[in-house]
Amino acid sequence: MKIYFDNNATTPVDQAVKVAMLPYLEDRFGNPSSGHRFGEAARNGVEAAREQVAGLLHCHPKRLIFTSGGSESNNLAIYSAVSAYPDKKHIIASQVEHASVLLPLQYLANKGYEIELLPVSRHGGLDLDVLAAAIRPDTVLVSLMGANNETGVVWPVEAIGGICKEKRVLFHCDAVQLIGKMVLDLSDLPVDYLSVAGHKLHGPKGVGALYGKRTAPITPLILGAGQENGLRAGTENVQGIVGLGKACELAGQAVVEYGQKISQLRDHIERTIYDTIQDAMINGQDQARLANTLNISFRNCSSAAMIQELDEKGIAVSAHSACQSGDLDPSHVLLAMKIPEEYLHGTLRISLSRMSTMDEVESFISILPKLVKKSRLGLAV
Ligand SMILES: Cc1ncc(COP(=O)(O)O)c(C=O)c1O
Repeated sequence: MKIYFDNNATTPVDQAVKVAMLPYLEDRFGNPSSGHRFGEAARNGVEAAREQVAGLLHCHPKRLIFTSGGSESNNLAIYSAVSAYPDKKHIIASQVEHASVLLPLQYLANKGYEIELLPVSRHGGLDLDVLAAAIRPDTVLVSLMGANNETGVVWPVEAIGGICKEKRVLFHCDAVQLIGKMVLDLSDLPVDYLSVAGHKLHGPKGVGALYGKRTAPITPLILGAGQENGLRAGTENVQGIVGLGKACELAGQAVVEYGQKISQLRDHIERTIYDTIQDAMINGQDQARLANTLNISFRNCSSAAMIQELDEKGIAVSAHSACQSGDLDPSHVLLAMKIPEEYLHGTLRISLSRMSTMDEVESFISILPKLVKKSRLGLAV
């Protein structure tokens, strides 16, 4: 048995993505900057991919910069904003952002910036009044994610962007987990920067994009030979970019499945857990959530033990919590949500994809109650 329910960590590459990439590892190997026909073939691949990504996001292709993934896109957005307005030293983000936002902000804090990390509610919700009140004349950037990678909690990007626009502050959205799972229309969203990563939507790893609105300043992090309009130097990851483009095209076609098939699978897991396992708590329950994600805590359990047992049976899920055996770090997301200590250590993140099936779900939920029981007994002795 091989069941992969850790799709928020990364997704399997779609076969059609692989097929689209292969020619760029073979006869279309040229450098996109070259003037000859080999270069042209590679360049055409990159530009076609730009159109495909733009198609999913509903933006102008020229507004996209290809990067090495979500982390670089997040770093580039933050760096661009602070470089453009060096006199403004206040940045707002949240306590539950991804490390690729929190660590650049930590770096800036060490350089004299004031970083304000907004708290979240017990179920991971964001208080928009608190956000509005936090924005000051010296605020240069608000960086808030579209959907949380651990809980799947979705934040109201449009309302957040509206507040930032009204207060004339740049808004960056880390939409790495949102893209492809919900429809996102940048032609209609007040967002200045938005981050995308290929490997979260059945594309290859090590490639992503940053959307920058026409008026949003971009300062390159990587200087060199002027690729990506001088905004991101380095010979393009052509096959990766082509894969990202194809993945975006397929994600656009499949996004409807998240609202239907995938949410049904997820809801079936949730219901069965509630029916068969006592003292289980869904994190993010009263919030809008990604249809593929279930973050659940079992009282007096060990995530590490359960993950290991599931792995032995061929089932991959993850956790981001402290555990008694000490081999998992406490999740800063669940800590920010103030999950009670007796639940915190027994958390599982189950994240599905369009490739998940009901048979897989049935196998998983037939095994889980025994594992939870065993983990509880293990902790009791
Ligand atoms: C919300 C979020 N932002 C950023 C990233 C980083 O993306 P990448 O792994 O492509 O650098 C991830 C990946 O785990 C993520 O979940």
